Amino acid sequence: MNAKQFGPTLLGSFLILGIQPVRADDTAALVPTTNTLVIHAGEGKNTISRNIYGQFSEHLGHCIYGGVWVGTHSKIPNTRGIRNDVVAALKQIQIPVIRWPGGCFADQYHWMDGIGPRKQRPQTINTTWGGVVEDNQFGTHEFLDFCDQIGAAPYISGNVGSGTVEELAQWIEYMTATTNSVMSNLRRENGRKEPWKIPFVGIGNESWGCGGQMTPEFYSDNFRRYNEFVKDYPGNKIYRIASGSNGDDMNWTEVLMRNVGTRMNGLSLHYYTLPSGNDWEHKGSATEFSEAGWFSTLNHAWHMNDIVTRHSAIMDRYDPQKKVGLIVDEWGTWYDVEPGTNPGFLYQQNTLRDALVAGLTLNIFNRHCDRVKMACIAQLANVLQAMVLTDNEKMTVTPSYWVFEMYAVHHDATLLPSDLQSADYNFNGQKIPAVSVSASRDPAGRIHVSLCNLNPDRPAEVTCDLQGAKAQKISGRILTAPEMNAHNTFEHPDNVKPAEFDAFRVTDNGFVTTLPSKSVVVLEMD
Ligand code: AHR
Repeated sequence: MNAKQFGPTLLGSFLILGIQPVRADDTAALVPTTNTLVIHAGEGKNTISRNIYGQFSEHLGHCIYGGVWVGTHSKIPNTRGIRNDVVAALKQIQIPVIRWPGGCFADQYHWMDGIGPRKQRPQTINTTWGGVVEDNQFGTHEFLDFCDQIGAAPYISGNVGSGTVEELAQWIEYMTATTNSVMSNLRRENGRKEPWKIPFVGIGNESWGCGGQMTPEFYSDNFRRYNEFVKDYPGNKIYRIASGSNGDDMNWTEVLMRNVGTRMNGLSLHYYTLPSGNDWEHKGSATEFSEAGWFSTLNHAWHMNDIVTRHSAIMDRYDPQKKVGLIVDEWGTWYDVEPGTNPGFLYQQNTLRDALVAGLTLNIFNRHCDRVKMACIAQLANVLQAMVLTDNEKMTVTPSYWVFEMYAVHHDATLLPSDLQSADYNFNGQKIPAVSVSASRDPAGRIHVSLCNLNPDRPAEVTCDLQGAKAQKISGRILTAPEMNAHNTFEHPDNVKPAEFDAFRVTDNGFVTTLPSKSVVVLEMD
């Protein structure tokens, strides 16, 4: 699409998007904020790893059971027990990597329960999530089949909290060894001749909490011990990820970097966004919120930038060559569960607010791609900030899903450094930057700029000085909706979905665009 002048187009795009006509006393609110952006298109040197767009799937509520696995005898269309509609939706967002089986569940999981004939697998209790029966129908073979079906790399989270070194060593042998050995022969007996490629292994999860209540010193020693027996069998090279810090806990990172250093390839970090900050008893509703809930959620989402910056600074001191990746393998919004649902299942709806959190957070990770090498949003289906929601045979994708779809243009692209002077979004005496951005150049030479306007009332005019490149042709897509809490339901799955966007114009040295309030926009420049 050719770049268009946008004098009258701005109002036009509001009307196309279904936003109510403007009343005279609202016009002050519609005056766009002023923002300036410089993109250094000739200076990119770091790659935005596609693995930043990873997912997390846990044996929790209906993430695996119901969301992914329905069983081979289900009426829901499936391939070897894995639901076809979910696979089709997930393929569209090009998921690079999936972490499994937890989370907290990983440190109670004994992988041998989940292999062999499904009828003979033991019934265990998921003591972490809801105390429900875990019938182990979805195990190693099923997970790796799921990864194959959607084209994602597996990230196996190993049990350090309640498992043994031998158990983890045998799991790796089972999955990856080529030899005529006990474990690889067991794999063959269970129907898989060739070993799988397992590129990522986590050594424990939240070892400071549900993973064993360890000190960082004790965990460091455990990492060194378990890791020693995680072997690289011929043809498989494992990227080893240590259990990392809880949000602001800088000491964990300090100790791990000092005591483990480059024995680990990646160090994890978990940070969840709650509207209430740290009040886990009263987090707030996923859908029923005012502007106060909108602002505080985005304010806490911005905190990811601060956390990543501070952990990176510690890592830089021990590892200036940036050999160890920061792996944000759990992030996303966490609200009160939907009324009437099992509190242990963490089922929540997903609104335009979540899309803004996703757009903002992914921009933060892109901008830190020199250190952030992987991230996994929590979680894939029916749990926390999910990509898809299911109810028996029904399925819908969420607004967050669409952000992953729109941002796929950044996968493995070169980050283009950018400087943004953003207007403030002020609310009740507090303020955050209203606009967030990241820019990249893909292997075909196209430049993509992803922009979020967090302000729910005012558009944002962004004037961009594109240095080192010329925008010949621009096209754009937008995700927005009239209401802050707009969301998709099984009855109305298209309430929030991307649309074409043309509120931009090419200038002598770049472009000018006007982002509607509460929107995520991706521009493409040839
Ligand atoms: O994603 C839900 C839970 O949050 C995970 O199991 C755990 O690692 C974290 O505390």
